[in-house]
Amino acid sequence: MKSSPVRDILAVLGRGDIISFAGGIPDPTLFELEDFRESFEYVFAHQGARALQYASTIGEPELREQAALRLSRHLPTTANQVQVTSGSQEGLYLAATTLVDPGDVVLVERPTYLTAVQAFTLVGARLVGVESDDDGMLPDELEDAIEAYGPKLVYLIPTFQNPTGRTMSAERRAAIADVLVRTGVPLLEDDPYGELRFEGEALPPIAAQPGMAARTVLLNSASKVMAPGVRVGWLRAEGQILRSLEIAKQGVGLQTAVTDQLAVAHYLATYDLDAHIAHVAGIYRVRRDAMLASLDARMPEGATATRPEGGMFVWVRVGGDQDSALVLPKAVDLGVAFVPGWPFYAGEPDRTTMRLSFVTNSPETIDEGLARLAAAWGW
Ligand SMILES: Cc1ncc(COP(=O)(O)O)c(C=O)c1O
Repeated sequence: MKSSPVRDILAVLGRGDIISFAGGIPDPTLFELEDFRESFEYVFAHQGARALQYASTIGEPELREQAALRLSRHLPTTANQVQVTSGSQEGLYLAATTLVDPGDVVLVERPTYLTAVQAFTLVGARLVGVESDDDGMLPDELEDAIEAYGPKLVYLIPTFQNPTGRTMSAERRAAIADVLVRTGVPLLEDDPYGELRFEGEALPPIAAQPGMAARTVLLNSASKVMAPGVRVGWLRAEGQILRSLEIAKQGVGLQTAVTDQLAVAHYLATYDLDAHIAHVAGIYRVRRDAMLASLDARMPEGATATRPEGGMFVWVRVGGDQDSALVLPKAVDLGVAFVPGWPFYAGEPDRTTMRLSFVTNSPETIDEGLARLAAAWGW
């Protein structure tokens, strides 16, 4: 087992003088602290003994109801189709242990979420990257890879992808679903960022495409829209696969903390999460615009940056022959941090890439950080 390069970078960020574009973490000043305080107080005042006791593996009914309500905005879902998880990261691991045996192939986007790479690697999967463009994974390449490798699973982050910030278009979702329905390969759809939209129309998950609901495990999380510290997420699945995921969770951790489940359920039933998300999205949008404007002014000829409509990340491809991992120490010396692109790739990486998070710094700080970054790259 190797440690995650992102964790290693985060470890040096305690240094107060570093402007960090590295972590995919929400701005903590925007947490609804009062509402969560009241929610936990409510739990201890009215559900105290239950909150402190062992409980079912599938999750608390109130939370599963709330999750089903949110999922049903795009895909009809009952509480019976919801399994609570300790963040979507646990959902990833549960799906990997349930659906993949050692040596099996999992197809992923190029690039993809690096801690998913870790979760699949832990269960002995062989990861194969499939080419993607600005609209997401390419259906023809997916079909070729399915034929060539006979994968057990396809893993996709269709909306505001980590690390690229890209969103799969509606047409592409339909085309990818068509390939998966025809070939019978199950989908693990990871959607922690989808609600964090700054502009444009919301897109239903691929799980909502015809024929896909029963063959998809859809992961959602409280982390990016409420708070990652509560470690609450949920997944939607159907039939035997849902039962298998529940058995896997039993072996991994018995249950997600009941205190946290009940507090999140109370929060969702009592407060206006949509209003909170709209508030956060308005602030993140300004920061995204600041990052793109500053990048546009500084990037050299040939370098490209994605233009996400939501989420947390801009993905920069510098091009040329500099390796972003070798630029990073210089950048940290100059007081700025980012995540180099290579760990996000299954297979041969594009080493001239890097991931920049725009959500935790003010526009002024973003500009100063990018001035330092430009100096580190020699732009
Ligand atoms: C694509 C993706 N999936 C899953 C996770 C895990 O999030 P959590 O376990 O906090 O829900 C993250 C966190 O960064 C992510 O970016």
